[in-house]
Amino acid sequence: MSDVNTQPFAGYFYRDVPAEDPELTHVEPGTVCGEYLRRYWQPVAMANEVGDLPLAIRILGENLVLFRDHSGQLGLMHRHCAHRGASLEFGIVMECGIKCCYHGWHFDIDGRLIDAPAEPLGSPVRNKVVQGAYPVREEQGIVFAYMGPPDKKPDFPVFDTMCLDDTESKTFSLSMPANWLQVYENTQDPVHVLHLHALSSGVQFGAASGVEQLIEYRDTPLGMMNIQTRRVGDHLWTRTTDSILPNGNQTGAIWEEAEGKKIFQRVSMLRWMVPIDNTNTMTIGWRYFSDKLDPRGQDTPSMVGKETIDFMGQTAGRPYEEQQREPGDYEVQVSQRPIAVHALEHRVTSDRGVSKLRNLLRQRVRSHTDTGDAPMPKLNAAQQISTYCQDTVFPVGEVEDDDSLMRTFGRRVADTVIESDDQLHENRIKTIEAMCKTEFG
Ligand code: FES
Ligand SMILES: [Fe+2]
Repeated sequence: MSDVNTQPFAGYFYRDVPAEDPELTHVEPGTVCGEYLRRYWQPVAMANEVGDLPLAIRILGENLVLFRDHSGQLGLMHRHCAHRGASLEFGIVMECGIKCCYHGWHFDIDGRLIDAPAEPLGSPVRNKVVQGAYPVREEQGIVFAYMGPPDKKPDFPVFDTMCLDDTESKTFSLSMPANWLQVYENTQDPVHVLHLHALSSGVQFGAASGVEQLIEYRDTPLGMMNIQTRRVGDHLWTRTTDSILPNGNQTGAIWEEAEGKKIFQRVSMLRWMVPIDNTNTMTIGWRYFSDKLDPRGQDTPSMVGKETIDFMGQTAGRPYEEQQREPGDYEVQVSQRPIAVHALEHRVTSDRGVSKLRNLLRQRVRSHTDTGDAPMPKLNAAQQISTYCQDTVFPVGEVEDDDSLMRTFGRRVADTVIESDDQLHENRIKTIEAMCKTEFG
């Protein structure tokens, strides 16, 4: 720190912009982070984006084409035809696979060359050429792809929050010209909820999110969580927000007001921050709706879809003055530079979550590079992956040392959410409620 210059008007000494941190931000084929991310199923598009024409998409720096053939199978291939490189976005979707428009080479969805019509019968080309293709899976309106080494393909992950029967869902996909990591780590920066979403330009979500909070962080079997605890009237409210490594996140009820008791209320979003390339990110997932998540009827499902969602500040296109007067997540994340430069940051106590998330990712990336090992989540009795994002609101009278009560309450809710992960939904509610009654009732 000896070269730190703290004199007034010191701009002259702070002009250099060092390079970004490539270990965590670069994602193209062959990069350490890119190879780690490729070991997991990644959402690549909403199923309703795939119409009768091929869809050109870009994921992890690879130009791809996604299509549904006439027999209903989805195909995901490298965009440039293996023959002489014409784009398959101009290809002809067939009963089985896709045909390049330039010379008619016809590929099955797995990339095998079915026909090369300009070649003589018996030409060896049919056995010698494949078009690069990836396995895909359509799940609840989202197309997921596995872009890693074929012999390492994991089972498709089904998360517990995808299987709740009292909840409706809609898919969404939002893109942003910013590196994936700064979009992802925003979810472990709960301090910004108070400032950006409540104090800076007025309340953007529930008014209770503007109440000062106690924040702690904890490892979970899937990555990490932050624990936010607030006092709202006679209640304590603990929200746990989980990061599902490598790039998944869940968020509690958007408009939560903590007005009455609730135990283990699940999530308003399950989403992934998928790198399009090093400087563009797609946030894609499900927005969940239920009376419990939204008792005041503030959700607008009709606004949820491609480049649109029903809460402010997540997309491009607002008038510049409005962006300046009421900035949201989009404005802050994009304006951190195309790839945020960690070497220029002054991370402090309130950035512990961001540092923790980077450390976890760095450990995973390095371990994957060194050993080829990418940890996969364990399954519960329903063959689902238990997750850790929830809200618990419990009536507790004021006490002399309210900070200490809030801290203990938050920790105990988080402990119990983690420890109950071998149970299914209804039992986890009972376990957490029993803990609240016994220890805080
Ligand atoms: S470039 Fe595709 S068939 Fe020739
Ligand atoms: Fe935010």
